Amino acid sequence: MTEVAHTPPKLTFQRALKPVVFVLCLGPILWLGYRGIVGHLGANPIETVIRYLGDWALRFLLIALAVTPVRILSGYTPIGRLRRMLGLFAFTYVVLHMLAYIGLDRLFDWNELWKDVVKRVYITVGMAAFAMLLPLAITSTDAMVRRMGGRAWRRLHTLAYPAGIAAVIHYALMIKAGFLQPIIYAAILGLLLAARVFKKA
Ligand code: HEM
Repeated sequence: MTEVAHTPPKLTFQRALKPVVFVLCLGPILWLGYRGIVGHLGANPIETVIRYLGDWALRFLLIALAVTPVRILSGYTPIGRLRRMLGLFAFTYVVLHMLAYIGLDRLFDWNELWKDVVKRVYITVGMAAFAMLLPLAITSTDAMVRRMGGRAWRRLHTLAYPAGIAAVIHYALMIKAGFLQPIIYAAILGLLLAARVFKKA
């Protein structure tokens, strides 16, 4: 009788982790697409799209920043391999959020956009957050880590924290009521920053 090759369950789980998380990360955008198709975007669809993508951009940013503390606390090292993918998803949702605003709300009127950047502080701060995330996305490949050297790469990638702070400030400045959500995001970010400082000490 031929013996059937058997993969240990732990290995199967580890191998499935990344593709499963990848599909889960696509969930919010697929859900938004579905809501668009069935016409469930509310009375102001453009505002709904911009806000929905902004919310998910911030959530993914915090989830990506949480990977290392969760890995250390849980001792489950394979989680570490999700960090780059989650960071890139955060960046993708930021870009979609920004594009929705520039394309759907401002209709690619660059003059109007520039006026917004100069006049509306929350847009200026949002742009600053984007400007900090851009070099992180560009240098996210293994080749870039090798080219820059681990130390310089790690130092550059601490920019994710000020980007997170700017993103929370952008949110807090933009709303007129209901400050609970940005306060919750700020508290989570504060904990993640504290975990980082604690790890270094
Ligand atoms: C890291 C970058 C960014 C993050 C994480 C982020 C996140 C958010 C969040 C969470 C909101 C509030 C959503 C809600 O009310 O539920 C928001 C609103 C908004 N963001 Fe961003 N944002 C970022 C960058 C930008 C940039 C670069 C722009 C424009 C150039 C922008 C334009 C807007 C606008 C216009 C709104 C308000 C929409 C409205 O008035 O309803 N954001 N953003």
